[in-house]
Amino acid sequence: MTVHFKQDKPDTSNRLDGMKQGVVGQPMPRVEGLAKVTGTAPYAAEYPVEGCAEGVLVTATITRGEVVSMDKDAVLAMPGVIAVLDDAKLTTRAAQGTADEAPQQDPATVCYWGQPIALVVAETFEQARDAAKHLKVEYREEAGAPLDPADAEPEEQDEDTVHQGDLAHAMAEAAHSVDVTYTTKGHASAAMEPHASIAEWDGTKLTVHASLQMLNYNISELADALDLEEDQIRLVSRFVGGGFGSKLGISEDVVAASVAAMELGRPVRVVLSRQQVFQCIMRRSETKQRLRLAADADGKLTGFGHHALVSNLPGEEFAEPVLQSSHFMYGGENRELMLEVARIHRMTAGSVRAPGEAVGMPALEAAMDILAEKAGIDPVELRLRNIPDKNPEEDLPFSSHKLAECLRQGAEAFGWDSGPRKPRQSRDGEWWVGTGMASAARVHNVEEAKARVTLKADGTALVETDMTDIGTGTYTILAQIAGEMMGLDPADVLVELGDTRHPRGPGSGGSWGAASIGSAVYVACTAIREEIAGRLDMAEKDMELRDGAVAGGKSLVEVLEGKDIAKEGHYEPGDITDDFTASGFGAFFAEVRVNRWTGETRVNRMLGAFGFGRVLNPTTARSQCIGGITWSIGLALTEMLEFDPVDGHLVNCDLAEYHVPVHRDVPDLDVVLVEERDPAASPIQAKGIGELGMCGGAAAIANAIYNACGARVFDYPMSPDRVLAAMPE
Ligand code: MOS
Repeated sequence: MTVHFKQDKPDTSNRLDGMKQGVVGQPMPRVEGLAKVTGTAPYAAEYPVEGCAEGVLVTATITRGEVVSMDKDAVLAMPGVIAVLDDAKLTTRAAQGTADEAPQQDPATVCYWGQPIALVVAETFEQARDAAKHLKVEYREEAGAPLDPADAEPEEQDEDTVHQGDLAHAMAEAAHSVDVTYTTKGHASAAMEPHASIAEWDGTKLTVHASLQMLNYNISELADALDLEEDQIRLVSRFVGGGFGSKLGISEDVVAASVAAMELGRPVRVVLSRQQVFQCIMRRSETKQRLRLAADADGKLTGFGHHALVSNLPGEEFAEPVLQSSHFMYGGENRELMLEVARIHRMTAGSVRAPGEAVGMPALEAAMDILAEKAGIDPVELRLRNIPDKNPEEDLPFSSHKLAECLRQGAEAFGWDSGPRKPRQSRDGEWWVGTGMASAARVHNVEEAKARVTLKADGTALVETDMTDIGTGTYTILAQIAGEMMGLDPADVLVELGDTRHPRGPGSGGSWGAASIGSAVYVACTAIREEIAGRLDMAEKDMELRDGAVAGGKSLVEVLEGKDIAKEGHYEPGDITDDFTASGFGAFFAEVRVNRWTGETRVNRMLGAFGFGRVLNPTTARSQCIGGITWSIGLALTEMLEFDPVDGHLVNCDLAEYHVPVHRDVPDLDVVLVEERDPAASPIQAKGIGELGMCGGAAAIANAIYNACGARVFDYPMSPDRVLAAMPE
């Protein structure tokens, strides 16, 4: 039986807090942790499949033009080679996860360097790779395609444009004003597990083991790409080694393996090489952002301007939503916001960890630091003075808002010195030492979600949904929620995820996972509780379940009398999403040292205080925050996609040349989880958390660099050359 719940009003009853098992909100290690660290959790490419052939993608070595011919015969004569496919379907691009169809194009058309154009299938991986390398492709290259955003005419994204009051006037009249332009470089998701698929076709049904974030959506994309019905497809993604947006949509390996399996009548595996992951999976757009801040003598904003330029391929819908939180972050009645997209020939731009705020907040928060300096106000105090009491652009209240608490608790825990600030006050040998801070914000999203919960006659429970766990802790928090609601030890709750045979979950993306699927499980468990209460002639809200028994009465096994109770919970975000602005907030504090001779920056310590509604599990929540702060360090100091200005190819397409922070770059990080219940965010009062930890953190580092050595750098990442160039004297 399906129980449908649409949230239309805030729920202040906070039922979960009244439950008696006491496991939600408790630190619990991940239930799948042992399987992962002992190597027994199978990832997509690791499923043992009898008679599996190996496919290797061939990618374009021009940026714009078309394929004129391929010398397939020469390659087919090589040892072990089974087929060379250049089916139109192969060029289905990794899609964004918002459209219902996977973008396809004419196979002969090349619109970016690294675009898959063919698949070579052989008996072994080595044979396939060798043949793929030897496939001779002739192209007709098209000259003059724009490769850099500066060379393209930008298109305005109207839905982001705001003109309120008169910003130019506010800037002219301001006691203190800031008008600065920042740039950020493109980023790669760089998930540990490369994109990989094994497809099997039995003549009527396609089964694909793949590494995906959103099975509910991926199944319709794949059906569309292959002209199949959704019920002819089964997708399995039980364990995913990170996605960060790059697995929101199906990637080329999924389609290529499927096409090959269907054409060849045998299972085919396709695993992207690390270089291919960089070259053909979505990138985060580079950005150029102009910030204008006008403030009165007390530092209170009277004007706010944020203009961003991003890029994507021609025809792609996605535009990095740089302004997402700028719309409501701070007050200022005179406002101008605009987002523009330049059409250029780099691989598809799409969601990479915290699309929008990941790059928008570091620019805004670095500009706020300049305003604090000009106004002579402590940076924490400046933020506190500018927290709006409602959304400044739309007449909407916030669902809940913990920025002030995060700023105060974070400052306290970090030991923030609110005295007067000046660069170059502290030196340790050849290193200047300084501190900086920034606010964090990330919009809260929720998505429709379904989960089946079965309370078994033996007193254990089963949770089933096609929701994924991409390393976030979904398995664990769902066991906790179900355990809490039904009075069970989470160890007695088996959670099965990542299989489209189960009810459709929301997938993992946009930090909506825990709140959305957690709510579906909550709805299903409420229905199970009602059924139990009915049998006992009690009101559900008066019934206390704990340790497998009804308080003061029978055990669940006795109540069940040998029969399972199964309910499908169907949660849907209701009108409430139009009534409130919902966002997670936080504050970052950083201490860095900058080498006075080389300009190298090292992070000494960093702390983030975050408020994102109910904390379901402080262990997994803290890990998410630490991951986010780690991304901030990469964004601030080292991560940048570099494209060749002549032919447009991505130059640094491996983990040796694209520098994600490694252990030595990440000091002990501290996280403060600020207590919050958000009654309008979701039925379980939780908000999104995964991405919040990186939304602004890079600015805390940038501001600390300035405080340390006096270098104001306007380009992220703040690599040694850039810091050195901006260093005074
Ligand atoms: Mo996310 S970048 O929506 O996985």
